[in-house]
Amino acid sequence: MNQKKIVVAICGASGAIYGIRLLAALMNMPMSVYLMISPSGRAVLAHESGFSHPSMAVFLKEHNCQTHEDAHLYEFDTDDFFAPFASGSFRHDGMVVAPCSMNTLAAMASGVTHNLIHRAGDVCLKEKRPLILVPRETPLNRIHLENMMRLADAGAVILPAMPGFYHNPQTIEDLVDSVLTRVLDHLGIDHPLSPRWGDTDTPK
Ligand SMILES: Cc1cc2nc3c(=O)[nH]c(=O)nc-3n(C[C@H](O)[C@H](O)[C@H](O)COP(=O)(O)O)c2cc1C
Repeated sequence: MNQKKIVVAICGASGAIYGIRLLAALMNMPMSVYLMISPSGRAVLAHESGFSHPSMAVFLKEHNCQTHEDAHLYEFDTDDFFAPFASGSFRHDGMVVAPCSMNTLAAMASGVTHNLIHRAGDVCLKEKRPLILVPRETPLNRIHLENMMRLADAGAVILPAMPGFYHNPQTIEDLVDSVLTRVLDHLGIDHPLSPRWGDTDTPK
């Protein structure tokens, strides 16, 4: 069986927990994950979650995240344009940017590729592969909105960090997972992350 290959980027927007819980969910499945964290992403991760490791794999292990025996996490510097997914010839199953800053959104909307995250997003758009952006900012100005329009027109899924409240969330993790549920759905990944509306079999 071919494992899914998912590219993940964590940027310097608030909501580092979205990136951490996404990685934890993916690493709990037979999956190959290709991770980039922008320098601002590292700073916000440190501020919001105490992340101070060079390696996310070590961080997840220290936080007792369950890792599937067939899960692999490959970590890349954002200036490493030799990474496999910097080329359209490397086949993968989609990319998620969570959280996505307005800076990275603007770069992707304009086709500027200053770093590997921008390049990987650009490659997804040109190859028609899933590109799921989880932007976090409020309020949004006209430039942010226009950038989202451009990216949606080019094929990206704009999936804002806007949790739902209809499943009666009890914790911050419940709220975060309600967004990540939709991310995984758009990647075509089966998961039990949070209850589904109308699904009486799913435990609350
Ligand atoms: C604590 C903190 C929180 C931030 N939150 C946001 C945010 O929610 N959204 C955003 O677009 N930028 C936010 N920023 C600013 C970005 O980090 C900054 O624009 C940076 O250039 C983004 O770079 P990147 O896109 O390469 O990650 C925040 C910065 C800090 C220090």
